[in-house]
Amino acid sequence: MVFGTGAPDAALMFVGEAPGLAEDRDGDPLAGAAGELLDELLAGIGLTRAAVAVVNVIRCRPPDNRTPLVVELNSCQEHLHAQLELVQPVVLCPLGDFATRALRGSTTRITRVRGTAEVRTVGARAVRLYPLLHPAAALYWPEGVELLRADVARIPDLLAQGPPPQPEDIVAPEVPAVAEPVAGDVQLGLF
Ligand code: URA
Repeated sequence: MVFGTGAPDAALMFVGEAPGLAEDRDGDPLAGAAGELLDELLAGIGLTRAAVAVVNVIRCRPPDNRTPLVVELNSCQEHLHAQLELVQPVVLCPLGDFATRALRGSTTRITRVRGTAEVRTVGARAVRLYPLLHPAAALYWPEGVELLRADVARIPDLLAQGPPPQPEDIVAPEVPAVAEPVAGDVQLGLF
C-alpha cells in the first residue's frame, strides 16, 4: 500500500489517482516526471514536498495501471477520510479527472472545474477544495503546464484564507419547544 508522504499537519494536501509502477516499488506517491513537475511548481510558491501532504485516492496499484473500479474507490475511501481528520489540511487539491470526480462526488470533468476553489466537506472535514490538472496529463499538453502553473500560483491566497468552518462548528438552530396543549385547544388527529 502507498499511504502517502509529507508533513503530518500539512495545510496543503494533494490527492492523486493511484500508485503506478514506480510508486508501488518505492512506496511514495507521485514519482517520475509528474512528481518533478509538482516539486518545481511547489518551489515556485516557496513550498517543498516535505511541507505538504501527497496521497492517492487509491492506495494500491491497479493491475496494468487501469482506471480504478468503484469497488476499489469505496474500499480506499476510509483511508483518505482518516488522513483528512488527522492532517486537517486547509486546501485539498485533487489532481486530475479521477481524483476530482471522486472528491466532488460528481462526473463534472476536471477541465471545467480546475482552478476553481469551493468549500466542500470530504468525510468529516470541510476543506477548500481546489482541483488541479494532473501533472502527468499536463506534461502531454504544453498549455496544460502553464494552466497548472497559474492555478498553483493561487494556492498561497487560498491557504491565507484559513480553514473553512467545520461541520462540528455549525450549530444547529435551536428548535422551539413544542407548547403544551392548553384547555380548549382543538387537538387534531387524536381519535
Ligand atoms: N502516481 C501516483 O502516485 N499518483 C497518480 O495519480 C499517478 C501516478
